[in-house]
Amino acid sequence: MQDKYDNKYKQLVEYALIAMKNAYAPYSGLKVGAAVLTDRGNIFTGVNVENASFGATNCAERTAIFKAVSEGETGIIMVAVASDMDDIIYPCGICRQVLAEFCKEDAAVICANKKGEYMAYTLKELLPCAFHEFKI
Ligand code: THU
Repeated sequence: MQDKYDNKYKQLVEYALIAMKNAYAPYSGLKVGAAVLTDRGNIFTGVNVENASFGATNCAERTAIFKAVSEGETGIIMVAVASDMDDIIYPCGICRQVLAEFCKEDAAVICANKKGEYMAYTLKELLPCAFHEFKI
């Protein structure tokens, strides 16, 4: 998906790559950075924060989302994720579900490699048939 938002995608990937330098990844060695753009036009960044108890690790995307939400911003319209790998990184399943909580299904998810090369998707493409709130 190459489109009129290319410059915005590039900008968000740059934020993700700069943030990545602060990744705390002593166990996997994989540094990940993320950046989210909110519907108020603000950008929040995040990194993966690992833990000796591996399950306590937080991915970069969720760090960025939680920073936005904790500042009162719950509408996310664009997300970028990048790592220090040659290959493009894609959000894990948990992060896709967390994105579904705060993004519309047409939100852009930009997946990048360490050089800033990227692929753009909609959240719906990455998480079709998402689970949402239900009432019984
Ligand atoms: N990781 C992320 O930060 N985002 C993803 O979407 C995939 C995985 C992190 C978690 C962990 O610190 C490391 O990458 C290896 O799984």
